[in-house]
Amino acid sequence: MSLQSKRVANLSAPRDIDPSEFRNVLGHLPTGVVVLATTASGRPVGMAANSITSVSLDPPLIAVCAAHTSSTWPLLRSEQRFCVSVLAAHHEPISRQFSRSGTDRFGGISWHHRETGPALDDAIAWLDCELVAEHDAGDHTIAVARVLDLASAQDGRALVFFRGQYGRFVPTDLDQSRRESA
Ligand SMILES: Cc1cc2nc3c(=O)[nH]c(=O)nc-3n(C[C@H](O)[C@H](O)[C@H](O)COP(=O)(O)O)c2cc1C
Repeated sequence: MSLQSKRVANLSAPRDIDPSEFRNVLGHLPTGVVVLATTASGRPVGMAANSITSVSLDPPLIAVCAAHTSSTWPLLRSEQRFCVSVLAAHHEPISRQFSRSGTDRFGGISWHHRETGPALDDAIAWLDCELVAEHDAGDHTIAVARVLDLASAQDGRALVFFRGQYGRFVPTDLDQSRRESA
């Protein structure tokens, strides 16, 4: 029996969930924010995303969900390779810039080339990724990518996205005192 038919057999009809309610409730899960970027037709292209997660350690795989409406994802997909820059606490304006349409997203940004694409200079981590699979899921595509190389900054603090607002990661007092006594 398929998962779909088991679900139909066992559950009453799901209630209609409005996309804005879905977004609001899922927004209670804090995430980091990344920029996915590649070079397409000789120019840097990129988009902000927070649906990224690690998937597998061996082989090293990540996944990210791209909206079917995205005009940048098809460019990243056709290059097959992209660089992930994990945004630092001061990168709220960069996150906004990389989600805005009709603008030069790399305008005023300091970046350098990595093997797979443009990397933001003062990000806190970088992943060089190669697309290995795509799975259609509702109005998004789940993209699975192999990590070819990676690096992180020594003491970076992450930008955090929570309930539609930006913030920064701060260790709890307990965690801080544990570190100091270690
Ligand atoms: C914090 C944040 C997280 C986002 N996460 C995603 C995401 O995971 N997937 C996605 O497709 N778009 C995400 N977006 C929207 C894209 O950055 C972008 O606005 C959208 O793809 C439209 O631009 P495009 O047509 O150039 O792709 C996010 C935007 C913000 C501000």
